[in-house]
Parts: sequence; structure tokens; C-alpha cells
Amino acid sequence: TVITNIATLVTNDPSLGWGSPRSSKFESGGGSPLGLIQDAAVVIDGDRVTWTGESSKAPATDNRVDAGGRAVIPGFVDSHSHLVFAGDRTREFNARMSGRSYSAGGIRTTVAATRSATDAELEANLTRYLTEALRQGTTTFETKSGYGLTVEDEARALRLAARHTDEVTYLGAHVVPPEHADDPAAYVALVTGEMLDACAPYARWIDVFCEKGAFDGDQARAILTAGRAKGLHPRVHANQLSYGPGVQLAVELDAASADHCTRLTDEDVDALAHSRTVATLLPGAEFSTRAEWPDARRLLDAGVTVALSTDCNPGSSFTSSVPFCIALAVRDMRMTPDEAVWSATAGGAAALRRDDVGRLTPGAYADLALLDAPSHVHLAYRPGVPLVSAVWRRGVREV
Ligand code: NIG
Ligand code: FE
Repeated sequence: TVITNIATLVTNDPSLGWGSPRSSKFESGGGSPLGLIQDAAVVIDGDRVTWTGESSKAPATDNRVDAGGRAVIPGFVDSHSHLVFAGDRTREFNARMSGRSYSAGGIRTTVAATRSATDAELEANLTRYLTEALRQGTTTFETKSGYGLTVEDEARALRLAARHTDEVTYLGAHVVPPEHADDPAAYVALVTGEMLDACAPYARWIDVFCEKGAFDGDQARAILTAGRAKGLHPRVHANQLSYGPGVQLAVELDAASADHCTRLTDEDVDALAHSRTVATLLPGAEFSTRAEWPDARRLLDAGVTVALSTDCNPGSSFTSSVPFCIALAVRDMRMTPDEAVWSATAGGAAALRRDDVGRLTPGAYADLALLDAPSHVHLAYRPGVPLVSAVWRRGVREV
């Protein structure tokens, strides 16, 4: 397949003029991190991209798709979601919108609903949100357990998730469940022992909610270290609701990502800037909890790699829309449109330590979205408008 007549192609190819991400503030094209090609074409062979370049130089083929002078971007890489759950938390959201503040305690509501759901109900829910996300351009997603919190329920969540993605994260350490409230140490022992043994076969990653009211720095270190010994790579829910040790711990353990990053000291920013750990920002959570935005500009200016994801979950961020997160990041987190699109594609790939997604370069998976707009900038410029008009995943047209 050759897709031709693309007005703007986002490749994220660093060799096509990665300035610094900062230079995209004033330039497009050469200085953008997006590796833009104007009047472009993409060649797909099987599940891979085999060629990108100017339309006039595209190889001839029978199977031509005319993009009609619109933009093509890499499919979004949503590197942070919590999609194995049952029930909803409308009432809690309503209470917040009338002035209550968010607390991690709401997680227990979803835990109760999830435990009593059947496999088929969880599967149906998961499929529903994945379909929703795909229609909005997401072609790679990570998802977590964390609403089971028993050996069986955590393993079940991961088993279901693993049918849909390779990016599966064990989050037995989401909160201490009610039955262990009197003895958190016993729960940490379960998470690092029997539960880990049952979950590790289905997961690639291990995560901890390192936060007041969830797990402290020492507990988080013990959990992530135990996971690492079982071959799982760390990622951390860090510094969301308060300042704390999460980001420093993520860097210390070479975690792929520190997620949320709303409350950071200068030392935290500096540690991220001198590490491989990506800062994954989740503006849907600040939107839905009426919290302060993470300061993306501060991170970018310090040289931190930033990813942008949905955090889709029924409590703190019930959106599956990466375009919505891009619009928020540009409007409220002082990212440029180019930076936000990079962070939602190549940034997400970096947060999953992947180089075969999040870019449209020869050898990468043919995961791409055709926008009903002449450029990627419209994702922020036209907020709330469903601009994704076609999606290819692994070379197959899905939308
Ligand atoms: O990433 N921060 C912890 N976990 C989720 C919220 C989960 C919930 O409220 O159900 C998050 O925001
Ligand atoms: Fe989360």
C-alpha cells in the first residue's frame, strides 16, 4: 500500500532535523522534533513501513490510497492506562466537581466492583475502551492491573490484558486493600511474594503507586526490586498528589517512566534530566480532579524526555482520548503543538522503551492515523473535534 498526497507527514525521524525539542517553539519543519515531510507519501509492506518521502518520488503500485491533502501521524502510544475494571465512579466525580478533593481512597470502590465482575464483563469493558481509543488514533497501549488486589484477581486482570497488548503492567501495589488495612507489611509481602509469582508470567512491567495513602519510598523500593528479580521492568506512579520519593526512586532503579510528575522539586527535575527515565504526564487526571497541571515547560527546558498519556481509569481520568490530552497539554501545560504530538507518539514509545512504534520510519510498524486536517497542529487547534478519520494498525486498516 502507498498512501500519497499527504499534506503533512509526521515521521518522528530524528535524522530529518531533530533540533532540540525546544527549537520547535518557533519553527516547524527543520527545527521540529517531528521529522516533518510536506507533500509526502508512505509505503506499507505487510505490517511495516518500508519507505517515506516526497509524494512525487513514491514507488508506483496498484494499491494507492489518496490522503486528499490531509495529515498523517504515527498512531498514538498511550503508555499509561488502567483498563481492567468494572463499575464507574460518577458519584465521586460529581462530588469533586462540587468541591470535594480527590483521594486515592476511591480506588477501593473500583476494587470492590472489579472483584465481583465476571471475566466476560471485564473483557467486554476492556474491549469497549480499546475500541474507543483505536477510533481516536491509539495503536499501542499499556495497561495495568491494580483493581483486583488479591492473587487471583490481579493475575486475572493481567491475563485478560495480555490478550490485547504486550505492554502489561503488574500494579498489585496500587493501594493496600481493606482486608489488609491493619497490616500493610503483610500486604507488601503478598505483593512481592505469592502475587508476584502468579502475575509475573503475564506482565512486562511492575508499577507502584508511591504516594501518601498508598506506598512509601521503602515499600516501593522493596516491591520494584522484587519485581526486577522476576524479570519485570520498573515504572512508577510518582509525585502525583504530593512531593515525595517516587521520582528519585524511579531514576535510582532506571525505571522506564515516572508517571504524573505534578509535584517536583528542582532536584527531581535534575535527576530526570540526567537519566533515561521518561516523565509521563497525564493531563486527563488534572482535568478530572481539578488539580494543578504538571509543568511540562519546566521539564522540557531542563532536557527531560516527556511522554503524554491518558491514564484512562474510572476514578481520576476517565478519558481514552489522546487528542484531548494533547489539547490540554498545549493549552494548559505550555507545550507547543509539535512537542505534544511528539510526546504522545515518540514520547510514549520511549516510556515503553520501544523503537518500533511511535514513528513512521522504514522498519517501524505501520501504525498510523490519517487526520481530517492539513496538519497535526489541528489536534490542539481544534479541541474536541474528532479529527482521526482513518487508522492503520500493523499495516491493516482498522478504522
Ligand atoms: O493514575 N494514581 C493512582 N492511580 C490512578 C487513579 C486510580 C483511581 O482513582 O481509580 C491514577 O490516577
Ligand atoms: Fe495511573
